[in-house]
Amino acid sequence: DFSKENTLINQYICEVRDISIQKDSMRFRRNIERIGEILSYEMSKTLEYTSKSVTTPLGKKTINVPTSDLVICSILRAGIPLHQGILNYFDGVENAFVSAYRHHPHGGDDFEVIVKYLASPSIEGKTLILADPMLATGKTLENVLKAMENHGEPKEIHILSIIGAKAGIELADMIFPKNTHLWIAAVDNALNERGYIVPGLGDAGDLCYG
Ligand code: PRP
Repeated sequence: DFSKENTLINQYICEVRDISIQKDSMRFRRNIERIGEILSYEMSKTLEYTSKSVTTPLGKKTINVPTSDLVICSILRAGIPLHQGILNYFDGVENAFVSAYRHHPHGGDDFEVIVKYLASPSIEGKTLILADPMLATGKTLENVLKAMENHGEPKEIHILSIIGAKAGIELADMIFPKNTHLWIAAVDNALNERGYIVPGLGDAGDLCYG
């Protein structure tokens, strides 16, 4: 939970939560992207590195650079700006896209998550980054994990999210393999009867794309 520390990320979290600022959807998307950049930077410290020699105009220097094989997978729709933020920091990585939406079969508060579209390279032995701004009940991640099974077994998984509810974090802890790391900008305690994070920020997909 990065929001417990005094860092710049709080400014962006504050703005994405603020109902009076959310109307500006371009700022909302850009703030999600910026949070994605900061989470990427923090996550980058845990990747694999190898030493590389670089030649400057005046000499040589060795420096450790990241070498993990990354696949960024974003969950549509709200994952798109977060995906872009991650991509801004990791050049030349592979990308996957998966759709997920809540279906209310009885028209009430109960819902199931439907995954209809998945385009992914092989993730066998690679580092998979799952990008979804909201981790509410965790059902979306559960279904995405199932859908990705056909594409190989990743070496490790990083879940990047803006706001996570305790319930979703607990489910993710339970269902994801041991080598999974959660990077969540802010943690909220509650979910309402419709499975929305409280106080959260509302419907991230709608706020991004109307
Ligand atoms: C939202 C959000 C997550 C999901 C989280 O997506 O972007 O994907 O809900 O909820 P969960 O943890 O309870 O599964 P939504 O289904 O509203 O789709 P959207 O991004 O297209 O709006």
